[in-house]
Amino acid sequence: MTTKEMIVTILEENKDHYFSGETLAAQLNVSRAAISKAVKELKKEGFTIDAVTNKGYCLSSESDVLSSAVIESYLQKNGYYVETVTYKTIESTNQTAKKMALDGANHGTVVLSEEQTQGRGRLGRSFYSPKNSGIYMSIILRPQFDMQSSLLITTAASVAVCRAIEKLTRIQAEIKWVNDIYLNGKKVCGILTEAVTDFESGTIEHIILGIGINVTTANFPDEIKEIASALLNSSSNKLTRNELAAEIIYQVFEITNELQTKEFMSEYKKRSFVIGQKVNVIQPTNTFLATAIDINEQGGLVVKAEDGQVIELNTGEVSIRKV
Ligand code: BTN
Repeated sequence: MTTKEMIVTILEENKDHYFSGETLAAQLNVSRAAISKAVKELKKEGFTIDAVTNKGYCLSSESDVLSSAVIESYLQKNGYYVETVTYKTIESTNQTAKKMALDGANHGTVVLSEEQTQGRGRLGRSFYSPKNSGIYMSIILRPQFDMQSSLLITTAASVAVCRAIEKLTRIQAEIKWVNDIYLNGKKVCGILTEAVTDFESGTIEHIILGIGINVTTANFPDEIKEIASALLNSSSNKLTRNELAAEIIYQVFEITNELQTKEFMSEYKKRSFVIGQKVNVIQPTNTFLATAIDINEQGGLVVKAEDGQVIELNTGEVSIRKV
């Protein structure tokens, strides 16, 4: 880690605490001039660092800049040593992660960005990804399991995101099939999974798990402003996006241990607000009315159509009918 990265990691993990230049210099084994230079550079990069005479440096509680060093440090405390790459702006983290995976990036590598100019959603849609308010990240996974278990990662990931949100904010998030995370009836997070399979062996080479969260996002475009929302109110926000990103990555890694046993499935069902609801099933060629009755072992939605026929949906989308 560079001096700059070490300083920001110390300050972010001890928010509201002042560290003198002397203490930091001694702790990092560098000169006080090196500390002062690194702090100047960090300020230029957008970190809000208060410098108070006789007290030292402190990361302001409003400072919320995505940083690989900080995310990696949180993950290391939980026993995960992975590479993360953070961009200021990028077309799509999924697209970059895909290229990195093809170039041999390791299992667990994470690509994050402060902004996406061409954020992609499911079913060919775009994902609104303005700067400094969301978390846009893609995790490269190289699963060691059979294809069926590996493909359950999408379902599992939505549970992992809910677990992370709940752990850090006490907010109970819900899941709308397939894997949208909702809060108070509005979508705060979407997940786009892309897999590269090996036809010969019938296995999955790698999976790109793309997660987009509106953390403090505001001013949604007209097309989505009625259905999208943010997880936190920016003024009451004490949680940094680094902490949340690291917790989500951690929960994703942990939940991959449940892929074969499918333990997370009961939690997915509990968090699903679709089961028991009347829904419009939206398919590429038709739309029909049904009642959602269950989630099957593969994460598919089981619905009962109006004619009584029970249908298992493995892909697609439903909207809740307002009766
Ligand atoms: C959806 O809601 O339809 C899925 C949205 C997935 C958005 C994330 S943001 C990070 C990653 N990169 C992308 O281009 N898309 C995913």
